[in-house]
Amino acid sequence: MDKILITGGAGFIGSTLANQLCLTNELVIVDDLSMGSKSNLPQTDTITFIEGCVTDKVLMTQVLSENNFDYIYHLAAVASVADSVERPLETHEINFDSVFSLLELTKKYQSGLKRLIFASSAAVYGDEPTLPKAEESVIKPLTPYAIDKFAAEKYVLAYSNLYNVPTSAVRFFNVYGPKQNPNSPYSGVISIILDRLKRKQAGEDCSFTMFGSGKQSRDFVYIEDVLLALRLVATSKESLGEVYNVATGVETTLNELVEILSELLAIELPIDYQESREGDIEHSLADIHKIKGLGFNPEYSVKAGLTDCIKRGF
Ligand code: NAD
Ligand code: UD1
Repeated sequence: MDKILITGGAGFIGSTLANQLCLTNELVIVDDLSMGSKSNLPQTDTITFIEGCVTDKVLMTQVLSENNFDYIYHLAAVASVADSVERPLETHEINFDSVFSLLELTKKYQSGLKRLIFASSAAVYGDEPTLPKAEESVIKPLTPYAIDKFAAEKYVLAYSNLYNVPTSAVRFFNVYGPKQNPNSPYSGVISIILDRLKRKQAGEDCSFTMFGSGKQSRDFVYIEDVLLALRLVATSKESLGEVYNVATGVETTLNELVEILSELLAIELPIDYQESREGDIEHSLADIHKIKGLGFNPEYSVKAGLTDCIKRGF
């Protein structure tokens, strides 16, 4: 049984990971519930939930000095690119400063740690047009979110090389699945489309706001494949000090997404087209050769992932 810290563990990716890991491990979760919810977590003796902010140095010092962790997953962040454009200073404190403090505390108190995993993002590649993006592709972060993720990722990997803090980073592309909170204007696009379809199904008169033409594309990766990727990166020796794309290697446009979902649910969703968002990337697609080298093979196409999502109650 390992002891594992998950920051942001009440959120979409964190809580799904926690639901899996709590079956055989002891977890400590720190989350301020700004986007996450305690109801995402099972009530079990193996989870200690702490409602608090990762920028709270007193709290984080207490958590890191009073526990001996085997693994740390640092997932807490303001996950919205658009929100970071609206609130660059506030999001910088959470998306960058908290990482730096966590690294220092880990160096000081966590001598037995097996791995710290940092959640970086495909946003670091920006809109440089060459696709697909491999880990060594040109980095061109366009927004506060992307700049913070890239800088934090660099520190995370440098702590492995310089101070022997065992770290790895993952660049998630667009993750989707059950438990993704649709209730903010900045929520992930699939959670928003599913929410609008659900409301339409319930007889509500609603539409989906498409920012841009709908021709923009993303590499959407299902949460089950993300859990597999995290397990491989956390436990393999060769991933130490390395960064990995986590994606499927397939791109889907927003128009295609709406079409697949409308077909799966047999509902027509009215689309309200608006201007593109500031800092939005047009196309995103991953080269996943590097993580395939760890044994990763994504199982879910977008259609299969969305079908599973709907089956699980979306
Ligand atoms: P999420 O918003 O569902 O989860 C983030 C969690 O962090 C939430 O529960 C939120 O309440 C918590 N949180 C936010 N600020 C906090 C703070 N100051 N202190 C403590 N907790 C705080 O988002 P997610 O999709 O689960 O993303 C998890 C991580 O993965 C984030 O770091 C995000 O940037 C990164 N990521 C996500 C995606 C994606 O497509 N979902 C893609 C790339 C990277
Ligand atoms: C997402 C993640 C980000 C991650 C990045 C990696 C979220 C909230 N964002 O950002 O954490 O780092 O992938 O690739 O999980 N859109 C609409 N209408 C809406 C909402 C969105 O048209 O109501 C459009 C956006 O303008 C964008 C596309 O959908 O063109 C995807 O947006 P979003 O889901 O926010 O994802 P990213 O910005 O790619």
